[in-house]
Amino acid sequence: LLLLLRTRKRRDDEPPLINGWIPFIGKALQFGKDAHKFLEEYKRKYGDVFTVHIAGKYMTFIMDPLLYPSVIRQGRQLDFHEFTGKVAPLTFGYKPVHSDLWDKIMRSFQLLQGDNLQPLTESMMGNLLLVFRQDHLDHGLWGTRSMCDFCSSVMFEATFLTMFGRPATGQRHSGMEALREDFNKFDNMFPLLIAQVPIWLLGKTSAIRKKLIHQFLPKHLSRFSNTSQFIKMRAGLFEQESLKDTDIGAHHFAMLWASVGNTLPATFWATYYLVSHPEALQAVRQEILDVLRDDGVEFSTDNDVNLSKEQLDKLIYLESSINESLRLSSASTNIRVAQEDFSLRLDASRAISVRKGDIIALYPQSMHLDPEIYEEPQTFRFDRFVQDGAVKTDFYKDGQKLRYYLMPFGSGSSMCPGRYFAVNEIKQFLSVLLLYFEMELEEGQPRPALDPSRAGLGILLPSTDVRFRFRLRPTEV
Ligand code: HEM
Repeated sequence: LLLLLRTRKRRDDEPPLINGWIPFIGKALQFGKDAHKFLEEYKRKYGDVFTVHIAGKYMTFIMDPLLYPSVIRQGRQLDFHEFTGKVAPLTFGYKPVHSDLWDKIMRSFQLLQGDNLQPLTESMMGNLLLVFRQDHLDHGLWGTRSMCDFCSSVMFEATFLTMFGRPATGQRHSGMEALREDFNKFDNMFPLLIAQVPIWLLGKTSAIRKKLIHQFLPKHLSRFSNTSQFIKMRAGLFEQESLKDTDIGAHHFAMLWASVGNTLPATFWATYYLVSHPEALQAVRQEILDVLRDDGVEFSTDNDVNLSKEQLDKLIYLESSINESLRLSSASTNIRVAQEDFSLRLDASRAISVRKGDIIALYPQSMHLDPEIYEEPQTFRFDRFVQDGAVKTDFYKDGQKLRYYLMPFGSGSSMCPGRYFAVNEIKQFLSVLLLYFEMELEEGQPRPALDPSRAGLGILLPSTDVRFRFRLRPTEV
């Protein structure tokens, strides 16, 4: 106990240290309440680099994005997977994985990228149209829905079908809404699980997780058809390694979380910003129609639209709109654990001492909302990432071009392997929505605030949902 209560003293060459007055907890409560505000305040007081005692861990925040490359390229002494290797098994309920299997799991991520993206993209398009056709494209009357719930229900099901496959008979799984409800209940507890709060302290969460894992037991999954190569390969791997069925189910469930946990709120924000900026929506819709027309397709709401991976790549205003909404809603922390005591060189004139076991953290939300990098940072500008008809990549701080300026998907060794698939599927969802539907927000609703409860973990949810009206467009374009 004495060890836990003892706070540490700053040594020479270490950054300023903020301990907080509550032993062990340190500054965890203030950080959890509003991480962005908390870090901005300490940046003003202590400068660009400081260490904060948060729930028993010492986290050194590097706040200046010009210094990010010095952390991201430090592969040997700063490890990402030490953190996920410990936290993910506790969160999703599988046994810790030995390093050989871990390497194979890492290699499986290649099946989300490169040429493998083609079949995934095709399958996603088919599944999106299936869900839209059966649930939403059947009449031309105005309907009203809560936008986040609407985006989440369509994307959850279409992503599930694309990753895990269709049922043995029929095209759609029964019980998808109940599955999503359980998923949401688990997701609400996700920040506490990641903070390593024991699951038995979290009410029904353990029972809900068990139910979710059950859906992915090999006896169920092996009967699905059209399962992605990615999930098939992982299923084969787990079988080869003779993992217990419940561990296999938990690994698949973890992948469900990874594939929709951030994608659903990201899809909501992109939809919300386009619907609340009709001029942007019109420009993006026109871009989609033009790309189709260039390939000889005249769009009509009577037919299924198909957008190939190449066509999606050409939609730079749509991509810019998605990136802009990611910039405004992302709050992930990039974490590296120091493998030894060492001196971390930050730039030509500065190095800091780091102790083994300490965490080095980047918090890109501060960069995303920096007015020096992004003029009027709180304003949605759909074309912020386009310049002279091409993708814009030059953003500056202190007159220097930034190597990293947009980081919703993490960085370096911890970069999200599903990022290309994620952006593609959001593009596909928005293309279908913009092409087929007229949409408007119901009057009198302010822009929803970001719900800070997942700060540090990815894309934030809105604190309230938004009501919108939509109907199928009349046949003419
Ligand atoms: C990891 C963001 C969609 C699969 C990550 C990380 C971030 C991230 C920030 C790194 C976590 C960290 O540094 O601690 C996002 C966002 C998404 C998205 C913003 C959507 C907009 C997806 C999708 C998939 C996926 C669709 C899979 C189909 C993964 C996996 C990891 C990961 C497997 C862990 C990688 C590892 O352990 O090295 N994601 N992600 N993500 N993401 Fe995504």
